Amino acid sequence: MDKFEKRVIISAVLVTMLFVFSILYAKTSRRIDLPECLPYNKTYEQPKVVKLDSNLYQVYAVAQMWQFQPAEIYIPVGSTVDFFLTSKDVVHGFDIYDKNVNMMAVYGGINKTTIKFDEPGVYKIICHEYCGVGHQNMQGEIVVNYPKK
Ligand code: CUA
Repeated sequence: MDKFEKRVIISAVLVTMLFVFSILYAKTSRRIDLPECLPYNKTYEQPKVVKLDSNLYQVYAVAQMWQFQPAEIYIPVGSTVDFFLTSKDVVHGFDIYDKNVNMMAVYGGINKTTIKFDEPGVYKIICHEYCGVGHQNMQGEIVVNYPKK
């Protein structure tokens, strides 16, 4: 084996190991949940907030031109929320401001992630994938422990 070839192989193995280590580090030490893709099912196209327990919620979020549904989500502080995300038309983004969430809403696909809301406040959901003329107005809100409007 050529000396140069050997160096390339060693570098490739090191980069791969670093990549795998980064994912494991994010998942274990930093507790960054990796979004999962779930098998598609029409029931995910019905937007709703489901209360499973006093601090455990499920949000079925549906993106479509140019809104998120439900547009406003009210939950108590300290809640853990499972987000199931899909789109009714084109690809949209789903970014929760101040939270480590960056998902894509894709027609015919479900993305899932779990987020805990320890601080009260209004968390904006922003579409960060260009989806047409109304893209810049496409947003939603998660209201954590704030009085209803
Ligand atoms: Cu939806 Cu941009």
